[in-house]
Amino acid sequence: MVVVLERVKTTVSVIKADIGSIAGHVVVHPDTIAAATRVLAEAKAKGILVDFYVTNAGDDLELIMTHRRGVDSPEIHEVAWNAFREAARVAKELGLYAAGQDLLSEAFSGNVRGLGPGVAEMEFYERPSEPIAVFMADKTEPGAFNLPMFRVFADPFNTSGLVIDPKLHHGFKFEIYDVFESRSVTMNAPEEIYDILALIGTPGRYIVRRVYRRLDDEIAAVVSVERLSLIAGRYVGKDDPVAVVRVQAGFPAMGEVLEAFAFPHLVAGWMRGSHHGPLMPVPQRYAKCTRFDGPPRLVGLGFQVKNSRLIGPVDLFDDPAFDETRRLAQVIADYLRRHGPFMPHRLGPEEMEYTTLPEVLEKLKGRFQKVEGAVKAAEPRVKSELLSTKPEE
Ligand code: F6R
Ligand code: MG
Ligand code: MG
Repeated sequence: MVVVLERVKTTVSVIKADIGSIAGHVVVHPDTIAAATRVLAEAKAKGILVDFYVTNAGDDLELIMTHRRGVDSPEIHEVAWNAFREAARVAKELGLYAAGQDLLSEAFSGNVRGLGPGVAEMEFYERPSEPIAVFMADKTEPGAFNLPMFRVFADPFNTSGLVIDPKLHHGFKFEIYDVFESRSVTMNAPEEIYDILALIGTPGRYIVRRVYRRLDDEIAAVVSVERLSLIAGRYVGKDDPVAVVRVQAGFPAMGEVLEAFAFPHLVAGWMRGSHHGPLMPVPQRYAKCTRFDGPPRLVGLGFQVKNSRLIGPVDLFDDPAFDETRRLAQVIADYLRRHGPFMPHRLGPEEMEYTTLPEVLEKLKGRFQKVEGAVKAAEPRVKSELLSTKPEE
């Protein structure tokens, strides 16, 4: 008798939302974690989920789930939605700050995308050993992952495997998502790295959404791309992205992935989602944004995925090897803070669209006086779609 073993695909779904926190936008309350855990435990008992881990990055509640229903599964999204609703109910009971903040809609309609939560999901056949890293950031936006994702999958000065591992040597494909136009373009590294950088160097608009190994089109990484203010049409806090990365044995090593975060690059977010600040990788116990509501933090958890079960986690940045990164981030934070409300600490006008800045300009409209005889500045010579946040007409 021949036994045919059907290989089943595992889906990793990381879905997050800010449903309220203690003492301002600082840290989630354990009771909201417990509420979400109860909902996910029920889904596990019913066989909808195979496994899950509920945690937080600062004021964001993070649901790390494994199952066999593929990406964008209505059942899984409904479970996540119910977990957030339940946690938000508890948050309201406790009077937590900004309770229910990211749940922009009352009604669930099959998918949490567009309703407020951030989503990073990938489906794959498990390798014999399947290590992954889950990254969760607070007080920043999805484009914060652009620079590290490029370094991990396209920069041999970061990832030596691109040069010396035959499976990595063919390079990676980058799916880049334009959040203003809801369109994406897929580009190849290394041949097209200059063009890739021309786009993703504008992280408020072009976001590395997925990365595939070119050797066999295996999914390597996925980033949540939801931008709350663009969904809500007003400022509703930063988007606080999540990402999942497969590591080792044909993918970049865990250390190559983490190495990309050893440089605390500047990201948009921080206080009122309106300032540039360094992204500080921290152990989970330090994932609470205190100084000027920041600086923006990054938590990394490592897991093994086995038969769709989650083994772990390991707190990846809980290591003195990142002390100097954190120290440099503090120095950068000090330096930037001294600029107060000035750019480039404060974001540029195109990113301030959903704050009070347009209201200030509106209020002053009647008080601006024409200056007679003054030379009118010429229109900018270069009009670039890259720099415009306005959708094409
Ligand atoms: C940033 C963030 C905080 C708040 C700030 C003001 O994403 O959540 O920095 O923007 O604390 O919060 P409100 O307007 O709720 O008083
Ligand atoms: Mg908050
Ligand atoms: Mg947050």
